[in-house]
Parts: sequence; C-alpha cells; structure tokens
Amino acid sequence: WPYDVVVVGSVNMDLVVRVDRRPRPGETVLGSDLATYPGGKGANQAVAAARLGGRVSMLGRVGDDAYGGLLREALERDEVDLRHLRPTAAPTGVAMISVGPEGDNSIIVSPGANARLSEQDVAESGDLLRSAPVVSLQLETPLPTVLAAARAARRVVFNLSPPAPVPDELLARCDPLVVNEHEAAMVLGVAARPHVQAEALLALGPRSVVITLGADGALVADASGITAIPSPRVEVVDTTGAGDAFTGALAWRLARGDSVAAAAAFAVRVGAATVRAAGAQSSFPTLEEVEGP
Ligand code: RIB
Ligand code: NA
Repeated sequence: WPYDVVVVGSVNMDLVVRVDRRPRPGETVLGSDLATYPGGKGANQAVAAARLGGRVSMLGRVGDDAYGGLLREALERDEVDLRHLRPTAAPTGVAMISVGPEGDNSIIVSPGANARLSEQDVAESGDLLRSAPVVSLQLETPLPTVLAAARAARRVVFNLSPPAPVPDELLARCDPLVVNEHEAAMVLGVAARPHVQAEALLALGPRSVVITLGADGALVADASGITAIPSPRVEVVDTTGAGDAFTGALAWRLARGDSVAAAAAFAVRVGAATVRAAGAQSSFPTLEEVEGP
C-alpha cells in the first residue's frame, strides 16, 4: 500500500508563551518572547509518524493565509503527502498556548479552517482512507467528520482529545482508543484508577484501549488482558504534543504489524523524547534518536 498511515485531522499554528503562572480573569501577566511552532493534533500525529520513517498522508484543511503556507511547508519538510490538504476560505487554525514552569501547558484553540473539514471531504478522499492499514484520528475537527472517517477506515486509531462526548459507534470502531486519565474520566463520567478505567473503557466496545500516564508510561487493555508499559525517566521541558507523538508513533507501528502492546512500548519512548524539547513537532524524534546509536 502507498501509505502506512492516513491522518484525518487538525493543522494549527501554535503561538507559545512561557509564564510563571496563568492570569486570572481580569488579570494581566507578562511572559516570555513569543515562539511560533507548527502544531495541531492531526498534523502532530502525521509528522510524528513521518519523521520515524512512516509513509503518511494528511486529510485536513488550512486557510489561504501566511500560517497556512508555513504549515504546508513544515509538513512537506517531513514528506507528509498533502494532496488531500484542502485550501479553505477561513483563517488557518491557531492554538494559543501558555507553558508553565513545570512544562505543563494550557491551550485555547481557534479551529478556523479545521472546523470546515466535512463529511464530504472524507467521502471525496474515500479511496485514500480505504487504502491505508491505519487511519489516525483526534477531535479538533467536527465529530461527524471524524465518525465518517472511522466508518471508511480499515483500522481506526483514535485519540479522544480534546475530550468531548462521542457516540458508542465511534468507540466500537477503535483499535485502539487512546486516552489519558482525564479523557478516560470524561468518557466514563467518573474518576478511577487506570486499571479500572481501562477495563471500563474496553467494555464500551473498542477492540483495544491505551491509557497514557505521562511519566508513568501507559496501560494497554485488550481481550488478552492489561499490560503496563513503563516510561523512561526524562527531564521535562514542554509536554505539548507528547500525546499526539505517542499516537502517531503507535499508528505507524500498528501499520507495520506490531501488536498494540509492542507498538505502545515503542510509542512511550517517542512520547518521552518529545517532552525534553520545546514545541510540538519541533521536538519529535527520528527513528535513530529513539533507538539510539
Ligand atoms: O496536542 C497539542 C496540540 O494541541 C498543539 O500542537 C496545539 O495545536 C493543539 O491543537
Ligand atoms: Na515538546
């Protein structure tokens, strides 16, 4: 097949300021110089997989503006196929990101062109979606679009982020559903220990579930049981996009034939590598950087 992974999703310019603390309503705080990085949960997944060596195509929308042009160039540098990245009469998506002293982030997204990615777009790219062993999804584009893409895919990897209610049909198509603890709690309507969350999510219908646990690695759940995947210890500079890199790396390894547990063990190392440097795509590793000399 021509592509290992097709990503359907968002493309954003990230406008990042480091702050000592966030402003309360009505308050002003001063932060660092502005840094501008290519981002968006969809594009981040695509670049993560492509930089590791995957053949990746991206279905999405960017505006016909300066950010749209820069984001296209960034994706091209990583050799992501852009024939299905549609120009759009709306502003390119932007994420306003504050990064705190612990490398933690808070994000406001203006979806812009991403909000125009439609079921019609998915239908027009149906052959592309059906051609790939894995289609990788997130939730920064409209839910009906994501569901249409899931219906067309041979195998769905779905990162339920940012968290929102989704229909059971979408969950049932996932292999795996990828969530962090907060997203898991949102889907389940109740907080619980990760093992309990993993069992409860599996009962909602996905063939497999991955719960990402930050510095504690990940849990993989499927019919054969639960596997805990540890993470290497790293110095945290900026966690932005770590979950996207994890999901993109996971999707690529699944396309190559790995089990979910084996793919997750690799993806945890990719995610850990990304938190050591600033920005999302700017911090994603090559295969050599993950596997070492
Ligand atoms: O997951 C991180 C991403 O979320 C950022 O790159 C930003 O664009 C937001 O969409
Ligand atoms: Na990073």
